[in-house]
Amino acid sequence: KPAPDCTLVIFGAHGDLTKRLLTPALYDLKVAGLLSDGFRIVGVDMADDTLEGWIEGLTEMMEAFTRDAAGEFYTPSLNEEAWTWLKDRLSYERLDFTNPDELKKLSAHIDSNAVFYLAIPSRFFAPAVDALGASGLTKEPEGGFRRIAIEKPFGTDLKSAQELNRRILDVVKEQQIFRIDHFLGKETVQNILAMRFGNVLFEPLWHRDYIDNVQITAAETVNVESRGSFYEGTGALRDMVPNHLFQMLAMVAMEPPASFAAEKVRTSKQTLFESILPVEPENVVRGQYTRGEVKGKSVPSYRDADGVARDSTTETYVAMKLEIQNWRWAGVPFYLRTGKALSNRRTEIVVEFRRPPLTLFPSADTHAPPPNRIVLNVQPTQGVTLCFAAKKPGPEMRLSDVEARFRYPDFFSREPNVGYETLLYDCLCGDATLFQRADNIDVAWSSVEPVLEAWRNEKTAPEFYEAGTAGPAGADELLARDGRAWSPIDQKS
Ligand code: BG6
Repeated sequence: KPAPDCTLVIFGAHGDLTKRLLTPALYDLKVAGLLSDGFRIVGVDMADDTLEGWIEGLTEMMEAFTRDAAGEFYTPSLNEEAWTWLKDRLSYERLDFTNPDELKKLSAHIDSNAVFYLAIPSRFFAPAVDALGASGLTKEPEGGFRRIAIEKPFGTDLKSAQELNRRILDVVKEQQIFRIDHFLGKETVQNILAMRFGNVLFEPLWHRDYIDNVQITAAETVNVESRGSFYEGTGALRDMVPNHLFQMLAMVAMEPPASFAAEKVRTSKQTLFESILPVEPENVVRGQYTRGEVKGKSVPSYRDADGVARDSTTETYVAMKLEIQNWRWAGVPFYLRTGKALSNRRTEIVVEFRRPPLTLFPSADTHAPPPNRIVLNVQPTQGVTLCFAAKKPGPEMRLSDVEARFRYPDFFSREPNVGYETLLYDCLCGDATLFQRADNIDVAWSSVEPVLEAWRNEKTAPEFYEAGTAGPAGADELLARDGRAWSPIDQKS
């Protein structure tokens, strides 16, 4: 069903996010018939441009858009009708979005409903929200809505996140604010809930009696490239852990919500986050890449990237062990890791089960078959893989490990998309299930706060790893200490 009539005001019309993700997502929503005739888009930016210039840039980008090697992007040929429909609804306003008087110009574009999408650097979040409040644009008309969608990073630690929340909630009500974590838009991340709570096969096994450990990995081959000056003050932990990795953790570990209503789901997540013990700094490994080769291309060391200090101690890799203190998970370690310039791109959750109580059958190989695993493949391969043991054909009774795989193209005509469609559509419809509540953000920062605090006081360099490898040796030692090993990031999935 099409979303209600609405004006989508995008702050940061010239930004990368608008070009690479929001515009294609809007186009995709139109193709899917999910936008109404009364839908309008206003691009706002401080850049001196005209509507024609803006449209030209977007059109070029849309025409160039082709499916990437991993199959994650859009259709190669542009549907002219849908693109024209969208272009006819665009306006451009060059203005300073931190100035309430200038923002008032926007009211000419808004009938009743509006979503203000802050696709701008985070230092502008609070000033832009203040200005929106002062301009009167956030005041909801009778029967209509005014919403603010806000990208990450949401603060840089607990204190700054609380301060940002306080400033936003001085201006709008919690129901008006949609805090985005784009991992929640990913089909495969949402599919974890479908898998767990839409079937009976998995949930009876989903606890400490059967599960030995859970590994959450977001391995990237990209290096910091031109984002050095942003990344230098951020690092892998802030950039990925309390947001993206915690959202994956929530999907895999939270209790079934009472219903799929936004507040129930967000409360379930909150209860889980509150059960995470503060991370012990000795259970964390931080790494930084040095010069190397990733997929055949040479990569300069992190310290040689533009905008990065030559003696930088910022981590480009982090691995950690988390403990969840509740009845379901007590004693089951959750290992999280993420890093840049690694040998392979792979985002996945591996749920590793306990071994059978006794070994009746010899293995076909010299080693014992690995424990059963359910792998939730998030990207680039999307799906679910079940790893178990089967009898190797032949007169002898010997076991070998095998896999059963669910892959989207085998069952659905459509590949999962990048996820922004879902998030935009939900925001237009007012469904906050896939967005973060203020308390979700605060508690995630609280969990990692002891680590940030320890790192603040410690000036030692992170452990170095060569670009194009699987990360620092310390990450392997973290698991080896517990008699475990990471699922390799290089194997084919
Ligand atoms: C962003 C981080 O939020 O997520 C990036 O700032 C990271 O550093 C990106 O590369 C990963 O997202 P995706 O969807 O490409 O896996």
